Amino acid sequence: MKSLRRFYQFLGKYKWQMLLFLSISTVTVVLETVRPYWLKGILDNVQTNNFSIVFIYLILFGVSTIGANLVSALSYYFGDKIMIPFSREIRETVFQKIMELDFAYHVDKNTGSLISAFRRGDSAVYSIFHSIHHELYQVFIALIVTLFFLFRASSDIAISLLVLFVFNIFLIWWLIKINLKYRSAFNDSEDKISGIITDSLINYETVKFFAAERKERHRLSTSFDIWSDKFWDFANSFRLMDISIGTSSGIGMLFILWLAIKKVNHGFTLGDLVMVSGFITGFYYQFFNLFFRIRDIAKSITDLDKYFGILENDTQVKDPQNPQTIKNPTGALAFKKIAFAYAGSRDRVLDDINLNIESGQQVAFVGRSGAGKTTLIKLLLRFYDPSAGLILFDGVDIRQLTKSYLRSLMAVVPQEPIMFNNTIKFNLSYGKEKATFSEIKKAAADANILSFIESLPKKWKTEVGERGIKLSGGQKQRLAIARALLTNPKVLIFDEATSNLDSESERQIQSALSAASKNRTVIIIAHRFSTIRKANKIVVLSNGTIAEIGKHRDLIKKGGLYKMLWTLQAKGKLVSNNESLVNTDIK
Ligand SMILES: Nc1ncnc2c1ncn2[C@@H]1O[C@H](COP(=O)(O)OP(=O)(O)OP(=O)(O)O)[C@@H](O)[C@H]1O
Ligand SMILES: [Mg+2]
Repeated sequence: MKSLRRFYQFLGKYKWQMLLFLSISTVTVVLETVRPYWLKGILDNVQTNNFSIVFIYLILFGVSTIGANLVSALSYYFGDKIMIPFSREIRETVFQKIMELDFAYHVDKNTGSLISAFRRGDSAVYSIFHSIHHELYQVFIALIVTLFFLFRASSDIAISLLVLFVFNIFLIWWLIKINLKYRSAFNDSEDKISGIITDSLINYETVKFFAAERKERHRLSTSFDIWSDKFWDFANSFRLMDISIGTSSGIGMLFILWLAIKKVNHGFTLGDLVMVSGFITGFYYQFFNLFFRIRDIAKSITDLDKYFGILENDTQVKDPQNPQTIKNPTGALAFKKIAFAYAGSRDRVLDDINLNIESGQQVAFVGRSGAGKTTLIKLLLRFYDPSAGLILFDGVDIRQLTKSYLRSLMAVVPQEPIMFNNTIKFNLSYGKEKATFSEIKKAAADANILSFIESLPKKWKTEVGERGIKLSGGQKQRLAIARALLTNPKVLIFDEATSNLDSESERQIQSALSAASKNRTVIIIAHRFSTIRKANKIVVLSNGTIAEIGKHRDLIKKGGLYKMLWTLQAKGKLVSNNESLVNTDIK
């Protein structure tokens, strides 16, 4: 019901158009429903040889039939004029909400199920609009018109129809509850299938690596067994509806017809009998219509609950009420006593992090996999707020800045850059819509990707494929560096990929990075230590705390964790590149 209220809040904007649309709709139904009355006029006057009146009724019958058709087309036209902008606005609102939701929401979401909910919600909006304002509304107007004429002919016939109507409404309600129960179970199984299909599509590479096509098919097949059972329960509930409503309406109609027949020659003309049978046979189908419409509405409300439920999600990381801006941002950062645990986990990923980064400094984070390096960056970007402590940007608590402002001061080259399934130009200029072509080219040149782009047959218009699959790891990273540089950030964050690049790509990325380091703070999360020897400060993270801070030379001298990690890596290099340890500059 809450979602229905929200539905009408969205619709409130169109109240005058709705009034016009419903008025036209009313005319359609009246014209359609009144026809048995004109038939009665024709029959009664044929019997009394009053052909001039018969002719008038014939014209009225013709006008009703043709007119109803024309006016109905008009009412659909006005309905669509509301429906199109209305459903678009809802879709855009929900999409925008999803986009604005926390990083944590996106981490937990299931894309397949969300797309299902989105699609079903969208068709629910259409279905509710149509079922309530076209169908249900018309059934009630038809009922009023029918009762009006039936009451004039015979009150016990009219009351019988009313009783049948009320009885059928209860019957319909009971049947719908059964139907929806089975539908909800069927939907769950459908969502599961959709989730498996999406997951397999996203992971197609892994499927291919492991030649697991049969395994995936089996996974789907098991879910389809449940799906079939649920489908049968659902389909059978329709048969139950056919049988119950058909029988109850049939008996009711027979009873009313019998009442009408009994009245012939007792105040009822043949014309009256035809009129009554015309009205009630028209109503026989309305009962089925009523079941489907009410069911559609009830079912759509469940879908709408899920759809509008997205709008109910609260953002945990909120913008401040009175946001601040920084006059001349320089990119000085400070982490003060930061602690953090991911929701649902008791273990702290970060604990007691104290760190100052001056503007223009190049700082490297190193540490074992899972030490919390990427997490620290997520806190800096306010993807999450720390459980304790503060982060300052140029001395201002980042919670005092809006998220979009804060993020506009920084740019990230993520550990695994992902591209939109679009052109190189679209992806490169993503962070700065109004960038000129020369700015785009400069960013590409600084990131060492320009010559590659220009060597492609379609150059800037080359499509990169889903998630950027058509590019190599190194190309994707350089494109991501160019994309970040284009926004001219005060702080550039480079979360180096864990995967190894060949020495040429690595050299290109390093030179891109050193070009990028001018006039800004740079944070490098380094997995290849060759990248960071010249860093102003190396921060060694271990189990979520800072184990060591210093320059390369000092940390090597100190002989702690950094030295150990460095030696391990150098040994790896020795094995892979057949180089001598002496050449790797460990001193
Ligand atoms: N969304 C999440 N929910 C729960 N735990 C998470 C989440 N993201 C990361 N973690 C956990 O937090 C810890 C730190 O992860 P993080 O990604 O910061 O490591 P990292 O130092 O960047 O590692 P790597 O060098 O492998 O990239 C890991 O144990 C990881 O499993
Ligand atoms: Mg990481």
